[in-house]
Amino acid sequence: MHYLNRRPRRNRKSAGIRDLVQETTLQVSDFILPLFLQEGVSQKVAVKSMPGIYRYSLDTLMEELKEITDLGIKAIDLFPNYPESKKDRFATESSQEDTFYLKAITAIKEKFPDLVIMTDVAMDPYSSDGHDGIVENGHIVNDATLDILAKMSVAQAKAGADILGPSDMMDGRVGFIRNALDNSGFQDVSIMSYTAKYASAFYGPFRDALESAPKFGDKKTYQMDFANSQEALLEAELDFAEGADMLMVKPALAYLDIIKLLNENFNIPIAAYNVSGEYAMVKAAEQNGWLDGQKAMMEILMSIRRAGAKCILTYFAKEAAVILNNK
Ligand code: PBG
Repeated sequence: MHYLNRRPRRNRKSAGIRDLVQETTLQVSDFILPLFLQEGVSQKVAVKSMPGIYRYSLDTLMEELKEITDLGIKAIDLFPNYPESKKDRFATESSQEDTFYLKAITAIKEKFPDLVIMTDVAMDPYSSDGHDGIVENGHIVNDATLDILAKMSVAQAKAGADILGPSDMMDGRVGFIRNALDNSGFQDVSIMSYTAKYASAFYGPFRDALESAPKFGDKKTYQMDFANSQEALLEAELDFAEGADMLMVKPALAYLDIIKLLNENFNIPIAAYNVSGEYAMVKAAEQNGWLDGQKAMMEILMSIRRAGAKCILTYFAKEAAVILNNK
């Protein structure tokens, strides 16, 4: 007989006890589902590098939203896919009141008033250069870009967005956008800043979905170096001071330490973006029979919560909601 007064296994001996001592929870209301929108009717175009994910026209998106809200998902993040013909150097289309993206926000809000709509503030889907800022002589110009982001933000707020997601990583944009929103009477529109957004290979499938890859170079002069974490604290201090309501870390899985770091240092909610490449990796392995995709998905989502994220932007939201609803 061995005498052991501490036997951690006792707390794992049955499903009931395991549930009692579980430290982290995962709920459907933690999810924000990113969705891709394009112009037209009856469109539902598969995104090749993201099995199970589609680009919708507004009519098919409305049907999808019925399913999504029936599953208990309370928030979406909408991204537009624009044809080359609508793009220019200044992302002019982004603040045209009659552009399909803004009209869709209004229509969705009307039909699903309780659904939280988050939007993306960045030039890249509308930019002929495929960058998040204005390009001059091969350089991304910071301050001139802020005016465009502010205009885009006010247009999205006017259309009915609840939360704006500046994803461009220009310096000073949170404060600039906050100011523009407040001056236009949109004090109640929230900002979830892409605070620590890294220059990552994991955005590849997303750029396929939106056909928004940069036409030259990379995004390393504005997105963060993945070797850095001190810098994430600096970005967070600035976003906090500039008035961000929530701070986001992106990607999520290779950056769990950054999620934890921000959560320990800031008393506003931390969000994490479980990005397209993270989704694609699991799907590819699942399709090859190399791992159990659903189990890997739940483990990944729980790990992001365990690291300290309050909410998770994830393409897995629907699949995970089905599992959570049947528990
Ligand atoms: C664009 C933007 C990107 C993502 C969200 N907003 C891509 C990029 O910065 O190139 C990536 C999302 C994903 O990969 O799922 N500003």
